[in-house]
Amino acid sequence: MPGLPKHLVIFQPSGRRGEVPEGTPLLDAARDLGVEIESICGGQQTCGKCKVLVEEGEFQKYGIRSSSDHLSPTGETERAYWERRKHGDSRYRLSCAACVQGPLVITVPEESQARKQIIRKSATERVIEMDPAVRQYYTNVTPSTLGDERGDWELLQAALRDRFGLTGLRIDLPTLQTLQDVQRAGKWGVTASVWNDQEVIRVQPGYAEGAYGLAVDIGTTTVVAHLCDLRTGAVLATEAMMNPQVPFGEDILSRISYAQTNKDGLARMNGTIVDGLNKLATRATRRADLVPDDISDVVLVGNTVMHHIVLGVSPVHIGGSPFTLATYDPVNVKARDLGLTAINQGAWVHVLPCEAGYVGADNVAVLLAEEPHRQDDVVLVIDIGTNGEILLGNKEHLLSASSPTGPAFEGAQITHGMRAAPGAVERVRIDPKTLIPRFRVIGDERWSDEMPPGEIQAAGICGSGIIEVVAELFARGIVLPSGKFNLATPSPNFRPNERVGEYVLATADQTSTGHEIVITQNDIRAVQLAKAALYAGAKLLMAHRGVDRVNRVILAGAFGSYISKEQAMLIGLFPDCDLDKVYAVGNAAGDGARIALLNRAKRNEAREAARWVEYVETAVEMEFQDEFVAALNFPHTRDHFPHLDGLLPPASLSQPSTDDREARRRARKARVRIKSS
Ligand code: FES
Repeated sequence: MPGLPKHLVIFQPSGRRGEVPEGTPLLDAARDLGVEIESICGGQQTCGKCKVLVEEGEFQKYGIRSSSDHLSPTGETERAYWERRKHGDSRYRLSCAACVQGPLVITVPEESQARKQIIRKSATERVIEMDPAVRQYYTNVTPSTLGDERGDWELLQAALRDRFGLTGLRIDLPTLQTLQDVQRAGKWGVTASVWNDQEVIRVQPGYAEGAYGLAVDIGTTTVVAHLCDLRTGAVLATEAMMNPQVPFGEDILSRISYAQTNKDGLARMNGTIVDGLNKLATRATRRADLVPDDISDVVLVGNTVMHHIVLGVSPVHIGGSPFTLATYDPVNVKARDLGLTAINQGAWVHVLPCEAGYVGADNVAVLLAEEPHRQDDVVLVIDIGTNGEILLGNKEHLLSASSPTGPAFEGAQITHGMRAAPGAVERVRIDPKTLIPRFRVIGDERWSDEMPPGEIQAAGICGSGIIEVVAELFARGIVLPSGKFNLATPSPNFRPNERVGEYVLATADQTSTGHEIVITQNDIRAVQLAKAALYAGAKLLMAHRGVDRVNRVILAGAFGSYISKEQAMLIGLFPDCDLDKVYAVGNAAGDGARIALLNRAKRNEAREAARWVEYVETAVEMEFQDEFVAALNFPHTRDHFPHLDGLLPPASLSQPSTDDREARRRARKARVRIKSS
């Protein structure tokens, strides 16, 4: 539609975005941008499968205000559809009917997504000593007789004291409200669930067995819940979802900004995450064949911003120096006070402590899971997410830092980036002779050169694919150590456009959109900035700790479990280390939450460790800038990587490194961009 004004439209949770000509139906705009929405009736406005939600408010990160008014008015057919459904929320629209008339942030609900997101997080097997906060006690209560002045609660207290030595107990009010009926229904045999030897939170008639808990990791992008048996420690169900706050901003700084610039911003983000937690709890409970009342304990972890938002505390003060939290201590709060309605209403939620402004309860959970504070070896733990968190040290001295990597490793800020979902390129190899790529997409075991192009249906490239393709481009000399394309690359897939160049990873006939998937110079820069932030953070901690090498590297984070450690080191994501001593451990924060759920002593250990770890504020360190500049090159400007012998391209040994002045300019720009991202 030449001549028509264009408007920025962002589709969440995929994050795909683009300028869309005015008047384009949302369904078409989504397809053009590679977002697949169900449309069973083919746009007749009758099936409702294409429904989407308009997010209202200011989105500073994108520089737009999104509003339902930025869509064409609801016509007769669409109105009739909503009336039939008795749907009162006017933010929902049929994407086949609503046309773009202004900038928009659109959420495609899970039921409307033709390609459901895959959240690749699963609990790993770990040995955990069982000592849960909630225990069940069965006892026979002696009924009162005439003249006995004790009520049912006093009788139960006496029975629990005499039989189990439990003293000083209190009872939760909703439990007290059911107590008399329960004791009589059980013919004075009763099972009491007791939290922390302090409070009776549930009573069941007769002998009952089965107490369960949820360990939840609220990530900026994904939320994962493990439902565990509090007696055996077994994980009975793991449920995951995209963080429903993604439409309010892809990273923590944009969520802070959303809370700052929208009057009801905090309430809306809190509402969506609480709603999401209830959904996860319901799904997990059903999968394990339990009822909500069976879930009697919860441990929550998350970065500091997620931590504040789920507690309904404004994250605004985390956003500015001195980056202060409302509390660093662990929090115990009743589930019902948080709005968690899909579990036992007497249950307590334990939120692990935070370390510093940008090192939250998720990092403390990683610490519990990986235990660097108990090791002799100097360990570097990198938790790769939208915000990278780093731990370095051993039992003598442990340091932590936060590194603003930005969302490049989650597929955002990359021209054809996407999150890990079917169709995302996740593995890449480039032939050393022909310099032609082959790749694998999520959802298909075959490599692209083993199947007809039309069957590949590549939709974009996810985080692990980005690392692989950049490492391969570097290893084959297509990208120089400075990060610039080698304009003399003799590959049919390389185009030296406008003196910067781009590399075609997937041709138009190999993709689901009919458009090429390319890697641009800007994409390489985004990877350089992200990896340099992590590397510089690690080096800074090494300097503080007084070591020039580490004995072990642990890559954590959902992304960490799918990362190729050779290729990650090839691009210089972390300092040189024996590759046999590099481990990808998956979602360590979720594992740490599970450990704290099953062993209450670990909650105390977490509190002490959070206070003991020395936090280093990278933003104020003079050396950070130097380390960052030096780390922009592949694999690094001055550091050596003896463990990459034979893997590094000859070019990396002979090519000049990034011009220092230019690198500094890029570093300054990067700092600004990272701060404002
Ligand atoms: S495609 Fe069926 S209602 Fe829109």
